[in-house]
Amino acid sequence: MIGVYDSGLGGLTVLAALRAAAIDDDVVYFADQAHVPYGERTDADLHALLTANLAWLEAHGVDLVVMGCNTSCAVASRLGWPVTNFRLPVQDLIVNGARSFAQSPFKRVAVIATPATVRSHAYASAIGAVAPQVDVVEIAAPLLVPLVEAGQSESAAARDAVREAVAQFPPGVDAIVYGCTHYPLLDAHFALAAPHAARIDPAREQARAVLALGLPPGNGTTLYVTNADPVAFEQNVRRWTGDTTGRVRSVTAAAK
Ligand code: DGL
Repeated sequence: MIGVYDSGLGGLTVLAALRAAAIDDDVVYFADQAHVPYGERTDADLHALLTANLAWLEAHGVDLVVMGCNTSCAVASRLGWPVTNFRLPVQDLIVNGARSFAQSPFKRVAVIATPATVRSHAYASAIGAVAPQVDVVEIAAPLLVPLVEAGQSESAAARDAVREAVAQFPPGVDAIVYGCTHYPLLDAHFALAAPHAARIDPAREQARAVLALGLPPGNGTTLYVTNADPVAFEQNVRRWTGDTTGRVRSVTAAAK
């Protein structure tokens, strides 16, 4: 069974990429919504949440973790995998996502991410390792995650916040990287704000890396778990995944 976690709804875009790649393993998806947003937390705090979330997934019986949170991967890139006492294999979204540029025509890419991910420079170093010729700029967009979590992805506020992030691009950006898994949920705004840039979702390479593991076939079931409001979470799961059959559960204080 695969475990996917995020601070909230963003990791659903990673789950969607797994399913789009015909990965039919059983999945438990954990949304740590009691602690969202992650992006403005300290490294020490993020490391504690990462450790707690991985332990929760392990206790839930997963045998592989597919990271659905860039901010957690960013802190792991600073402090190092594996995190304390965790022995299961982990697919790192930033390391895998950077492979999007291994053979690409792009010259200057803008990674839009949370403040903690930008601070880590994890994307710049991961892309630099596979495509040193690519010029990487990293731009923090702290307003976007709270807007998505509040159900305001289609609002004028979300549109304006995306425009503000794009306005910080230097000239010549030919690709945007969604360095936070919530941002593909705002894709329509990015398409309007930066019509000439390609939009790269690292989740596609993440799914490709999981596919390459050649996991045995599963039953394709998904269990969605939140440690916040289960009613709102269920509505969002149905809305963003189209999955009408997956079970939704809530737990109290599962993390931290
Ligand atoms: N969706 C997460 C990411 O990819 C975290 C967003 C947040 O909670 O700030 O970084």
